[in-house]
Amino acid sequence: MTEQSQTRQGLGKIADFPEFPAEVTIDHDSYFILREEGGEAGEAVYRLVSAICPHAGGYVRPYNGELICPLHFWSFDAVTGESTNMPGEALECQPLEVVDGELFMNKLA
Ligand code: FES
Repeated sequence: MTEQSQTRQGLGKIADFPEFPAEVTIDHDSYFILREEGGEAGEAVYRLVSAICPHAGGYVRPYNGELICPLHFWSFDAVTGESTNMPGEALECQPLEVVDGELFMNKLA
């Protein structure tokens, strides 16, 4: 069995993102950082979602408060990443950690 360890990667200070969803590139792949107001502790919750549509690999883009795939028009909530027109579908997602105002993702090393 191969052991994998997790490493954290900083994505930048929250204050440096003018708006959410915020597009970021990590290891040449496109993602969006999503922000949800008022999590359990009353603070904003951040998620990282892939910009690649789970249907057939199109690239989703922000449009009218959603993330829309231009290939066949699946749409996704710009706060949760869950599909708004294909029940049960969602963009690949992971929670982000906030440490001293900076966003971090966990990477498998
Ligand atoms: S590839 Fe995105 S809707 Fe088909």
